Amino acid sequence: MRSKTVCIVGASGKLGRYMVQQCLDRGYVVHGVCRPKSVVKLEPFKDRISIFAGATNDREVIQRAVAGCDGVLTVLVPWGRQHYATGTAQAVLDLARPDARLIFSCGWHITRDGLDKFSNLLQWQERFARWIGAATRIIDIDDQIEACQRIFNSDARWTVVRGSDLEEGESQGLPVWSRHVGDPILESNRTRRIDYALFMVAALENEDLVHEAPAIVGRQTPSARAHAA
Ligand SMILES: NC(=O)c1ccc[n+]([C@@H]2O[C@H](COP(=O)([O-])OP(=O)(O)OC[C@H]3O[C@@H](n4cnc5c(N)ncnc54)[C@H](OP(=O)(O)O)[C@@H]3O)[C@@H](O)[C@H]2O)c1
Repeated sequence: MRSKTVCIVGASGKLGRYMVQQCLDRGYVVHGVCRPKSVVKLEPFKDRISIFAGATNDREVIQRAVAGCDGVLTVLVPWGRQHYATGTAQAVLDLARPDARLIFSCGWHITRDGLDKFSNLLQWQERFARWIGAATRIIDIDDQIEACQRIFNSDARWTVVRGSDLEEGESQGLPVWSRHVGDPILESNRTRRIDYALFMVAALENEDLVHEAPAIVGRQTPSARAHAA
């Protein structure tokens, strides 16, 4: 039986590299897309994965990288003011196989149905990020929001994994999730980055997560332990 092939768009970042390792551990054939200057960060994997150097919103690069892939894991980042996240998401939506599983990362600030209840702190952080982004032109939160809106409106087999605040550390296992921010199970607002990757990679094989936007939190956090039952 042929091994499944997975493309990781944004493979050289911290989340991306965890996903590369976990996909290799699961026996997937791995394609990785990253900016040319970041190829060096994938050096430890260079003999085990195919690297496609280029901007993640470069449609020609994405077309080659996702060709024949059963799944695509995309790290959506709000960098710059060039609609980078939107261009990245649109390229993956347009160019991946229609039956491919598409998993995207973003933060809790994304809402699918408007039913999330954001704390004052989260609302303030989003306003601050928008203000900083406009002043410095380094980030564009609204671009990530637009990217996710396009995903939500698409017929592709997508899952948008909404991450809490992240930390480094050893794995605590698969994070728990809720459909809505504001659910008490998420209150701890903390996930190990390695476990964020675990959730993204596991979602490739989880049909229950098709057309879901799970908000995740570490399974060993106090709120997850208190409410998991
Ligand atoms: N950090 C958090 O606390 C947090 C919280 C919730 C959700 N998330 C989500 O988690 C995912 C991963 O985020 P992360 O913070 O952990 O970062 P990360 O894994 O290190 O990924 C950052 C990505 O952004 C790329 N990048 C950096 N600077 C760029 C630029 N100027 N132009 C284009 N691309 C650039 C990196 O590519 P290079 O390797 O080429 O630099 C890398 O692919 C994102 O979807 C984020 O929304 C993060």
